[in-house]
Amino acid sequence: MALNMVTTKDSSWWVYTLPAFLGSKTLLDETYLIFFTILLSLLSLALLTWAFSPGGTAWKNGRNKNGAVPIPGPRGLPVFGSLFTLSRRGLAHRSLASIASAMNANHLMAFSLGSTPAVVASNPQLAKEILTSPHFADRPIKQSARSLMFSRAIGFAPNGTYWRRLRRIAASHLFAPRRISAHEPGRQKDCAAMLRSISDEQTLNGAVSLRKHLQNAALNNIMGSVFGKRYDTAQDSEELKEMVREGFELLGAFNWSDYIPSWICCCLNDPSKVVARCEALVPRVRRFVTGIIEEHKMKKNLNENNVSDNDDFVDVLISLDGDEKLDEDDMIAVLWEMIFRGTDTTALLTEWVMAELVLHPEVQAKLRKELDGAAGALTDADVAGLPYLQAVVKEALRVHPPGPLLSWARLSTSDVHLSNGMVVPAATTAMVNMWAITHDAALWEEPLEFRPERFVAAMGGADVDVRGGDLRLAPFGAGRRVCPGKNLGMVTVALWVAKLVRHFEWAEDAAAPVDLSEVLKLSCEMKYPLSAVVEQRNVPI
Ligand code: HEM
Repeated sequence: MALNMVTTKDSSWWVYTLPAFLGSKTLLDETYLIFFTILLSLLSLALLTWAFSPGGTAWKNGRNKNGAVPIPGPRGLPVFGSLFTLSRRGLAHRSLASIASAMNANHLMAFSLGSTPAVVASNPQLAKEILTSPHFADRPIKQSARSLMFSRAIGFAPNGTYWRRLRRIAASHLFAPRRISAHEPGRQKDCAAMLRSISDEQTLNGAVSLRKHLQNAALNNIMGSVFGKRYDTAQDSEELKEMVREGFELLGAFNWSDYIPSWICCCLNDPSKVVARCEALVPRVRRFVTGIIEEHKMKKNLNENNVSDNDDFVDVLISLDGDEKLDEDDMIAVLWEMIFRGTDTTALLTEWVMAELVLHPEVQAKLRKELDGAAGALTDADVAGLPYLQAVVKEALRVHPPGPLLSWARLSTSDVHLSNGMVVPAATTAMVNMWAITHDAALWEEPLEFRPERFVAAMGGADVDVRGGDLRLAPFGAGRRVCPGKNLGMVTVALWVAKLVRHFEWAEDAAAPVDLSEVLKLSCEMKYPLSAVVEQRNVPI
């Protein structure tokens, strides 16, 4: 009897404490009881769902078991899933790789980004199946991308007539080989200006901080071929650079509302101020791009629809007619996206290449020997024919893929059956962990070593295709949404590296030794920008 009394007292303790929390004087206020009971039941249900869902709550109801083989994955936390695990060190590719390895989920792993179900492939075969599947030709779109007008741009437009039209226009008027070579003189000019500014900084400061030189050249390069406009001094382009920087940060920024229910986000009150910052940036971008479109329209006789290979991309877009014609908002989105994608990717990849060359003087010397052996001023065509140079760029792409998770995820539009028996349900976000694949010891001998020889057939290596044909090294993605700027990117980076090594000797700056730590923003960049001491060689710029 006594025991019973104790039990009754213990189990109903909350009935007595609850009113104190809720500020009620009545112990058994009916409304509170009902409310609290519902809340408790919901919480218990949520906890139970979470506890029995490999992959976390976004994978509830056995979502991971649609195929013969279930997709394994971490539960993470209730409500948040694996969000904190991924953001803790800021290097999601490394965190995902180590969780996948610990859970034996190296082929495919399920996880939850708040309420969003996601999978990540760390295996070339499954990566290929995902990237090339027509059911994975959409991308999930973040709030920042939508606010910044990117939903109408190539990268985020849903797979369909509009997206196909944009790809076709870009493929034939911006990325076609004849267009890339038509813009070579501009590229050479920007590169020469970069070499001169590097030389000036070395004379002035006794060392060179390379990134800003590369970013200036990259911006001018893309401005030249997209907008037909180049900036003479770094100051002239300051406003544009600031807009690009802000857009990059916003697109790369973590935004709670992309992953967790809106009522929780309201409580968090947009902590990174993504929404407010997007609202401030869009009118500036619109003004800037519209201004350039207007300048072009004034210059051009609009009845004359012929465009030549030397024309810039704005001329091309203005001259489109009939079904192909884009309205002004679409043009702004497409043009703005090109600046975004074309600027930092090439600059950051070149910085990684040069950092490795500073750390590996023997590779730098071998490369210089190859470059000195090439006659002439080093054109795009010369550069394409230098196997060691190409191998150096490929090895940098392998060790430091600029988009280690291929940056731009895919979204399944229906259930996708994979060859290993797993089924990825519709509406799942899919990523490929390219970093995990390019660092997999089962695929690459001594994967942590920077060894360009592995890509030179004459040195016992293999001539791996990096443009989407071989998923062991596909830094530009693959399938119908593969990077359309891959050739332009490769040509630009190879030219810059060739010129930087031919004109200068690069050595470590004792005051700022090379540090290969990474930071993952929109691209994966060097956390501590490269500083090096350069010695100009006796080769005229
Ligand atoms: C080193 C240079 C670059 C790297 C590593 C890179 C990487 C990538 C990757 C991984 C994707 C996603 C592919 C996929 O989902 O399969 C992508 C998409 C894209 N990239 Fe690049 N990129 C580079 C340069 C460029 C340049 C120079 C431009 C344009 C000027 C560009 C424009 C685009 C566009 C428009 C997309 C979206 C394609 C679509 O969704 O249809 N990229 N890039």
